[in-house]
Amino acid sequence: MIPKETVDLIIDSSRIDEVVGEFVALKKRGASMIGLCPFHNEKTPSFNVSPARGIYKCFGCGKGGNSVNFVMEHEHLSYPEALRWLAKKYNIEIHEEKKTDEQQQRDNERESLFLVSGFAQKHYSKNLHETEEGKAVGLSYFRERGFRQDIIEKFQLGYSPETWRDLTDAALAAGYKIEYLVKAGLTIQNEENKDKYFDRFHGRVIFPIHNASGRVIGFGGRTLKTDKKVAKYINSPETEIYHKSNVLYGLYFAKKQIIQDDVCYLVEGYTDVTSMHQAGIENVVASSGTSLTVEQIRLIRRYTNNITILYDGDPAGIKASFRGIDLILEEGMNVRVLLFPDNDDPDSYSKKVSNEEFKSFIKENTKDFIAFKTELLFADTQNDPIKKAGLIHDIVNSIALIPDAITRSVYVKDCSRILDIEEQTLLNELNKQRRKNHDKKATAVTKTETSGGEESFIPDSTAKPSEQPLVEQKTRTEYQEREIIRLLLNYGTSPVPMKGQDEEGNVEEIEGTLADFLVIESEHEQYPFETEVYRRIMEEYIKHHHEGVALDYNYFIHHPEKMLSEVAVDFVSIPYQLSNWDKHFIYVTVEAQNILKAAQQASNALHLRRLEVMINDIQAELRESKDVDEQLILIQKQKSLIEAKMEFSKRLGRVILK
Ligand code: CTP
Ligand code: MN
Repeated sequence: MIPKETVDLIIDSSRIDEVVGEFVALKKRGASMIGLCPFHNEKTPSFNVSPARGIYKCFGCGKGGNSVNFVMEHEHLSYPEALRWLAKKYNIEIHEEKKTDEQQQRDNERESLFLVSGFAQKHYSKNLHETEEGKAVGLSYFRERGFRQDIIEKFQLGYSPETWRDLTDAALAAGYKIEYLVKAGLTIQNEENKDKYFDRFHGRVIFPIHNASGRVIGFGGRTLKTDKKVAKYINSPETEIYHKSNVLYGLYFAKKQIIQDDVCYLVEGYTDVTSMHQAGIENVVASSGTSLTVEQIRLIRRYTNNITILYDGDPAGIKASFRGIDLILEEGMNVRVLLFPDNDDPDSYSKKVSNEEFKSFIKENTKDFIAFKTELLFADTQNDPIKKAGLIHDIVNSIALIPDAITRSVYVKDCSRILDIEEQTLLNELNKQRRKNHDKKATAVTKTETSGGEESFIPDSTAKPSEQPLVEQKTRTEYQEREIIRLLLNYGTSPVPMKGQDEEGNVEEIEGTLADFLVIESEHEQYPFETEVYRRIMEEYIKHHHEGVALDYNYFIHHPEKMLSEVAVDFVSIPYQLSNWDKHFIYVTVEAQNILKAAQQASNALHLRRLEVMINDIQAELRESKDVDEQLILIQKQKSLIEAKMEFSKRLGRVILK
């Protein structure tokens, strides 16, 4: 652990122009510097560095961040690794927080497990290549299956002979302790009689599993027997260094190509990974030995936002792909799918065709998830309207998981076209589903404090419900949320006149800050912000606000979480655009005079959008409702909401306070 003060020192010492300057030739342009973006191919420079703000921003590819982000992105390092990189550059000594004895012991133990696993990998490989049994049994098995020599070596495949203690005895003779062989999952020891022990993987070919930096952390062993009673694969158990759900087989060998191609292929098995490498496709990983987890998806997200699922087309594969799609969408990533025909998997299929055919097969048959689901499910819906409705629900439920509003609306458009269903119908369904998901997740929902409650509104049958298409409302919601965050971070500490109530309930003028105003507004809203990143910023802001700390751009620019720091960087860089960076301050001074007005407008507009969404939902429910009593209640609610909406519309654009 790097102590907090050292982290701050590193961040304060790091000068963005110097850090970027190590990799990019920068020229001065006004107060900022400009160069060719190292993250995408370009001939004219659109990569900007602002030494004053400590940030970089590419107006070509959109990448942006602070010094730490730059090093992470450019050198493919984790956050602590990037901090160490910068510390080295600026000769800052890192005194790791003193470890307790317990911590120290755990570290030693982990290191011992790494060492013994490394030994085992080398031993298994030596067996495969240098022993008679290894060559006759293991190597000929791989050869028969068409594994090329260079692939066998690259993946450090191995062989564990039939005898029971080959590895354990070799490791003991080399001085490794039985305790660590057992803890690494290599040896199984009888608890009562410690002299009884045997190799977990005996009589199998070995696939070592590496972590992202290439160290061996576990193994998969495949039997050579065709006996159905013998488990085809056995894998290392959970150990201190191997947590199945956080590991992807092949990631170490795929990293570079994933970044380069900006997509990651996801397959099911060890042999799918090795065979795809053999076919010349290296951006591939497998969730071997476990069904896909959220942690594994986040691991991929470090390198790309795009995942293509390549699974077996059998029912199990289809089911797994459906689950995978939803998990990936929920993480805000893009997902495409390809199922292999006739119970083939990528391994077996790649062995049937040439490398070129294999590549073009993937290219031509990969579908985006809507087309994939539609085609698969359409086959058995035929013209059955009930089944078709089921299919639509199914697809909309997937779309509803996507965190980003704009992406959602793009998919809704697609879906409307492919399924020939009106967009509005899909949107109604989508919103219903999203609120269901939201309610499921919501833990503490604050109650709205509408003045007087719904009953006090006079129903107005002439009022027309929202006329705007919902897609537009959604993006506008995002815009308003963004505006509120922008004002908060820019002017949070600015004093604004507010109204409060004294003990007797008399309204009085009080002095507050813009942050007070926006925090109160936010806490009175029934729904939190829809856009994840703005919601996160708001939550973090509010938490600090209650502790008397006002956060600003700098805090978020240097936030360890990329999603948050990227937004902060965008806020400070977008309005300036290229050489206009300096002119912005004129705009700031004008805006500063109107901050409260701007904040109220954004806040009201947001509230208005929410009312519109609610009205839309009620209308959808009304159309479906068959029960007269229920309809009456819905109509009553609808009228109240429309009234509230009119009231709010009136307020929009008007300054309430002096
Ligand atoms: N698996 C496992 N335990 C099993 C069966 C499978 O851990 N008893 C895991 C392995 O990681 C395997 C993956 O699930 O690679 C996919 O299983 P399967 O499709 O049955 O195996 P293949 O990868 O096709 O293996 P092979 O080509 O060697 O038959
Ligand atoms: Mn297979």
